[in-house]
Amino acid sequence: MIAYSKERQIFLLSTVNTSYAIIVTKHGYLKHLHWGGKINSIDDFDLIPEYYIERKIVGIDDEPNAVIPIKKLEKETFFERLDEEYSGWGGYFFGDPGIKVDFEDGVRDLLLIYSSHEITESTDTSVLRIRMKDNIYDLFVDLYYKIYHDLDVIDRWVCVVNKTEHKVTIEQIMSAMWHFPRGDQYRLTHMYGKWSGEFQLAEVMLTQSSVTMETRTGVSGHHSCPWFALDWQAEAQEESGDIYAGTLHWSGNWRITAQKDNHERVRVTGGIHDFDFAWPLLPDEEFSTPIFTGVYSTGGFGGASRQLHKYMKLFVLPPYSLEKIPSIAYSTWGLYTFNSDEEQELEIVPHAAQMGVDLYHVDDCWFSTRDNDYQGLGDWYCSPTKFPNGLGELIDSVKKHGMEFGLWVEPEMVSQDTHLFRDHPDWIIHFPGKQMTTGRNQHVLNFGMKEVQEWAIKWLTELLEQYDIDFFKWDMNRYISEPGWSQLKNYEQKTIWVKYVQGVYRVFRTIKEKFPKVYLMNCASGGGRVDMGLMKYCDTAALSDCGDMWDYIKIYWGYTYAFAPMSTGYPRVTRMWGEPDIRSKLSGWSSDPREYSPEEKSLMKKRNDDFRKVRHIIHQGELYRLSSPYKDEYVAMEYVLEDMSEALIAVIGLKQTYQRFLPKLRLCALDPDSTYEINGHPPMTGRGLMAHGLDVTFREELDSYYIHLKKLQNS
Ligand code: DGJ
Repeated sequence: MIAYSKERQIFLLSTVNTSYAIIVTKHGYLKHLHWGGKINSIDDFDLIPEYYIERKIVGIDDEPNAVIPIKKLEKETFFERLDEEYSGWGGYFFGDPGIKVDFEDGVRDLLLIYSSHEITESTDTSVLRIRMKDNIYDLFVDLYYKIYHDLDVIDRWVCVVNKTEHKVTIEQIMSAMWHFPRGDQYRLTHMYGKWSGEFQLAEVMLTQSSVTMETRTGVSGHHSCPWFALDWQAEAQEESGDIYAGTLHWSGNWRITAQKDNHERVRVTGGIHDFDFAWPLLPDEEFSTPIFTGVYSTGGFGGASRQLHKYMKLFVLPPYSLEKIPSIAYSTWGLYTFNSDEEQELEIVPHAAQMGVDLYHVDDCWFSTRDNDYQGLGDWYCSPTKFPNGLGELIDSVKKHGMEFGLWVEPEMVSQDTHLFRDHPDWIIHFPGKQMTTGRNQHVLNFGMKEVQEWAIKWLTELLEQYDIDFFKWDMNRYISEPGWSQLKNYEQKTIWVKYVQGVYRVFRTIKEKFPKVYLMNCASGGGRVDMGLMKYCDTAALSDCGDMWDYIKIYWGYTYAFAPMSTGYPRVTRMWGEPDIRSKLSGWSSDPREYSPEEKSLMKKRNDDFRKVRHIIHQGELYRLSSPYKDEYVAMEYVLEDMSEALIAVIGLKQTYQRFLPKLRLCALDPDSTYEINGHPPMTGRGLMAHGLDVTFREELDSYYIHLKKLQNS
């Protein structure tokens, strides 16, 4: 719900357990008042009167677009602007601004003054738009706030509208400036990473300085993830304590800066990176930023992540990802890499079926001259030597064996010795006359160009219409360098970083709309581009190329701080669920199911059949992280269905230390008065499981297993 007091010029946005408040000062600045626990009355704020009295604003409601006629500021307003909700770079301001612009006449001063507002209520959400305007120029900045009635989540974004008669160049435009209660001891938690080591958690205490998380690679990860969490005095634990978290919906260059000033004012500013960014805005044009989602929770890191999980599930991911439980998959990529062909694939298919696989997918090998990573990208037809009959026969065999069929593509790339490279050199991102550096021996197509987008939509559509494909893995295996776009004027070229991402979104969106039931996987050499922006069009994300089980667990653990477990890719046979002996053979890069004895295969099938009975709990349940790989040599995670009827505990050990007895696992969110049936343990009540806990133990190093809890019918 969004309340507004005309008397006090306060906006109060309330979610289930939290409130967010903003006030208009006497000179029309917008000042942040509150983000935290719930406030029930708009009068419940302690205000310093000198900033707010004697205001005479004209026409706020009567004349929606009326602008406060401030041309000259009567006196110094430095203090009035402290905690400014969203600052233009202008006036006596020295922090990291929300927006910085360059007017045609050389003026680079932007002072944002309240102009009007609009509140829109709908069934699930309420939206507040506050229109700000420069005190002199006709440049409008609309601040958007969207709240969700059943969540403690706020989406923020900004739209700039140029109503001047000249071009205005935007040099920086952040999606939001978040403000936190004044204080000296904030801990910032963030993620860093690398290829095969994504989503690693790190923390730092904020000093009177700035900490910047960013990427300049053109994609949102692997090095960093557009997510942060902030808590006071490092007091938040997994399930307790006040915590703020935020995540940016953007798949290209981004920056999130946490800043504490010398008066203990703490701010987090985030959005599209201003590095090598410039956006010329012609008269009547507008520019919108991506969304920056914020959450406040008193339930610690776990509480904040469950809010984000629910938000992602209900308002970000495509509907099919809710409907379809991820399949257990097998691909020959680990076995043959580029060297697979129809004959070899046909040979493996029955073996995969015998292991209880649901989805058989063909990876990076099936098209053009793709015999190694120097060749083939861009020419999207079946390899005449490796798949001379197309994919039809293979797909038939996969389906006959009762499995779904999946296919790999990498639409944004081109290899040198291809028709596409020869026919469209102008489609390749580069600076004419300079070197064109390859990454993994390939170049990047300029998806900012309409014709490139149309080309991709056309061949992807034809492919998906021609074959019965259930799963599509969209890969992206290099970063963007030498970002030239020679067809554009000089002053427009820096738009490439943003237009590229917008173009990628358009192609993903079009394909998802045309083929909603093709399960779409976001992959960029593993988890190189996982963010809420791209996940709007993808059912699932590849987290990593990492094949080491323990490393993978840490990657998964970090991922769940920001993203819903239901979006974590398909479980590949063996990763954390297989018997250790089979797992060690299958989880590496050279797994060959033909090598397994019939006993091993049926054991694997049994494991997969068992997993199939409980995987809906991971897909639909809420996650409680019970024991952290950052703190101990084992991990425990509990997934529990919202109605508390079933829970699944995954226990994974790194080391088995001789004579070490693990702490009892105290579970969460069960029905205290019901009795649960538990595999491997006697039945217990929810109360007992939460208060006393379960004994867990490991049989050997790198052991892993799950415990399934089911409420007894008549309990
Ligand atoms: C990177 C992906 O993450 C891998 O799973 C695999 O598909 C290769 N690319 C193929 O080139």
